[in-house]
Amino acid sequence: MNAPDAYRLSRYLTAKKSIDGRALNHRVWSRFVEELGGVSSLRILEVGAGVGATVERIVTALDVRTGPSLRYTLVDRNPAVLDTASSELRTWAEQQGFEVTGRSPQVWSADGESVALEFVTADLYDFAAAHDGGRFDAIVGQALFDLLRIPDAIQALRPLLRDRGLWYLPIHFDGVTAFEPPHDSGLDGRVETLYHESMTTDHDDGRAGDQSGRRLLTHLRDAGSTLLEAGGSDWIVWPQDGDYPADEAYFLYHILHFIENELRGHPALDDDAFADWLSDRRRQIHEGRLTYIAHQLDVLARTD
Ligand SMILES: C[S@@+](CC[C@H](N)C(=O)[O-])C[C@H]1O[C@@H](n2cnc3c(N)ncnc32)[C@H](O)[C@@H]1O
Repeated sequence: MNAPDAYRLSRYLTAKKSIDGRALNHRVWSRFVEELGGVSSLRILEVGAGVGATVERIVTALDVRTGPSLRYTLVDRNPAVLDTASSELRTWAEQQGFEVTGRSPQVWSADGESVALEFVTADLYDFAAAHDGGRFDAIVGQALFDLLRIPDAIQALRPLLRDRGLWYLPIHFDGVTAFEPPHDSGLDGRVETLYHESMTTDHDDGRAGDQSGRRLLTHLRDAGSTLLEAGGSDWIVWPQDGDYPADEAYFLYHILHFIENELRGHPALDDDAFADWLSDRRRQIHEGRLTYIAHQLDVLARTD
């Protein structure tokens, strides 16, 4: 695939589904599903929900036709990604044999109401402030807390969970980015360091940024939660027989687009050398030769 003419967050999030699917930590996921079991109804809140990738996994794992009814609230401040979530989830549910009615809630029925999805365009802090406490059995946040000041987000969202409610927080970047093969210029290390620095949103103790995966472990404990499971969920995107599966070539171009946006004009990078690095990395995607690795963690915790 050639480099795209335009970049869209919705396409990036949809493209990352197959990569997340390979990466998710099965031990953490299995424990989450186990902890959700044994009830007749569940209320789940997903913050920074994007295109809603987690819904399909949860509905499949819980087998909602015979198991609990599910009320699932997706909150994201970007209306375009929630529109994509709504239409992609509608299509997926129909393929699974559900009858789908309504927009928000979007209700999926099979022998009675099984799933009700509510789509809320809002900043998660505003959503948290506007809603009563104790409403949800679990809060899901995937690839989100890297973008937030973690203690602030936990403090704002915690009241929405019932007692002994769950935090399921998968795919959190934890400070390693690697490309293979190494670049001849020797620029890989500098690009990695500067890119990680650019992720650090501020410099006080509550920062998210380049090691947010491990910071989650500490901040959840500090907020009075018990860690139930934690494990690695590294993204590894590599060419198979000279090509990438699904839309993963687009995903790689989008990663380079993120890096370019962050580091273009950076005083610690020579402009021409960085432009050569980017163009070589793009050529390697086109030729099916680039491998990309990002180290990440999944975390499951329970409030007291
Ligand atoms: C990296 S994407 C991850 C999306 C999705 N969880 C996934 O893994 O595919 C982060 C998402 O969080 C949303 N987001 C970031 N900060 C937010 C905030 N303060 N309130 C609500 N949504 C937010 C963005 O709009 C984006 O859709």
